[in-house]
Amino acid sequence: MLPNTSICRLVTLSLLAFAPSAFATNAKVLIYSATEDFRHDSIPTAIQALQSKGPSFDIQFETTEDKAQFTDQYLARYDALLFLDNTGEVLDDLGKAALQKYLDLGGNFIGIHAASDCLRNTTFYGHEVGAFFDYHPALQNALQTVDVIDSCHPSTSMLPAQWHVQDEMYNFKSDPRTIGATIILSANESSYIDTGTRLNQGTPHPTAWFQERGAGAESNGTAGRSFYTSLGHLNETWQDELFLAHVFGGITWTLQSNTTLAFNTSAEVGNPSVSVDPTSNSSSTTGTSTSSSSAVISVPPIDVLPLKFMVLSIIAATFFPWLSSFYLGRFVLTAYF
Ligand SMILES: *[C@@H]1O[C@H](CO)[C@@H](O)[C@H](O)[C@H]1NC(C)=O
Ligand SMILES: *[C@@H]1O[C@H](CO)[C@@H](O)[C@H](O)[C@H]1NC(C)=O
Ligand SMILES: *[C@@H]1O[C@H](CO)[C@@H](O)[C@H](O)[C@H]1NC(C)=O
Ligand SMILES: *[C@@H]1O[C@H](CO)[C@@H](O)[C@H](O)[C@H]1NC(C)=O
Ligand SMILES: *[C@@H]1O[C@H](CO)[C@@H](O)[C@H](O)[C@H]1NC(C)=O
Ligand SMILES: *[C@@H]1O[C@H](CO)[C@@H](O)[C@H](O)[C@H]1NC(C)=O
Ligand SMILES: *[C@@H]1O[C@H](CO)[C@@H](O)[C@H](O)[C@H]1NC(C)=O
Repeated sequence: MLPNTSICRLVTLSLLAFAPSAFATNAKVLIYSATEDFRHDSIPTAIQALQSKGPSFDIQFETTEDKAQFTDQYLARYDALLFLDNTGEVLDDLGKAALQKYLDLGGNFIGIHAASDCLRNTTFYGHEVGAFFDYHPALQNALQTVDVIDSCHPSTSMLPAQWHVQDEMYNFKSDPRTIGATIILSANESSYIDTGTRLNQGTPHPTAWFQERGAGAESNGTAGRSFYTSLGHLNETWQDELFLAHVFGGITWTLQSNTTLAFNTSAEVGNPSVSVDPTSNSSSTTGTSTSSSSAVISVPPIDVLPLKFMVLSIIAATFFPWLSSFYLGRFVLTAYF
């Protein structure tokens, strides 16, 4: 336990000290919730929860279910695409090509719940998500447990080590670790009944993960970040503050890849209004881009981080320093720079 904790804190602190600690300000994220097979009735609840919390993280969510919107030009305006509960063949060949290009240009990707159950013949999509969904046992009322494997990640740092959830426990067709993903949440297989035959998805059981460089980008492209969580089935889940903190931790982490316009004025994807004026070239800047160049090196303004998290972090840091080094570090950095 102790060595892991120390490594975690060390990594967190050195990242805070030496990385730009950049934060994508005014990020724009496209929620794509088209379905061709099963449709989750929690989709509207999920969209509503994301959109209502977005402003407190400085994120604008836009939505579409229209596959014809998947063009190079349309996608390029977004800092990330969020695939929500998609099932079946939700993109045509033109849309898949535009998605591939977006990922090759450093676009970021977030997949939630059934996002692993679409475009099943599209290898690059499977790599970008991390693995395709295989099956899940019936939703069980008994409390199932999800173990936090990596508590350093912003999507898990606020979770209890053994997190009780009422959700579907997904099994996958392959092990996301084989394409470079890092598992952060794992289903405790003894906390629920699954009589099916699992394929080789690896141990511990993958439930949520991230990819520093999404494996869906081609090798000659610039890969952005990818985050996936298999949780999020029920309306109730989307009304649970802890689940939303997990999801927003994943989204804000994903947006801090350094591959979009918020971090690189020559990048070809990302919300243009935070960065260079599109009518000027990359070395000439306008009023808007002045704030963008500071976005490259600055930490988030103090009001971006919910105040209650900071207060809790300080209290928690006093008593449980291993839990809160991430938030405290952010707070200290914000206060000093
Ligand atoms: C979930 O919420 C949606 C939209 O608010 C509603 O239409 C649906 O019936 C709800 N599902 C359940 C099982 O309550
Ligand atoms: C995917 O591949 C399988 C097996 O080759 C095939 O049966 C199926 O029709 C394909 N689906 C689509 C949507 O292309
Ligand atoms: C897994 O679940 C079982 C059954 O609920 C419980 O006894 C055990 O402590 C759990 N283990 C972990 C690591 O969460
Ligand atoms: C990357 O390689 C693919 C072929 O594998 C090619 O179609 C594409 O244009 C290349 N992209 C760049 C930016 O060179
Ligand atoms: C972006 O991140 C990658 C991988 O962490 C790193 O190699 C690269 O130097 C970074 N670029 C900038 C501009 O920070
Ligand atoms: C900025 O983005 C451009 C275009 O994608 C890329 O060629 C360049 O390497 C990036 N710069 C850095 C420092 O990452
Ligand atoms: C780009 O901006 C710089 C600085 O304003 C200017 O000197 C240069 O001529 C511009 N180049 C183009 C191609 O517009």
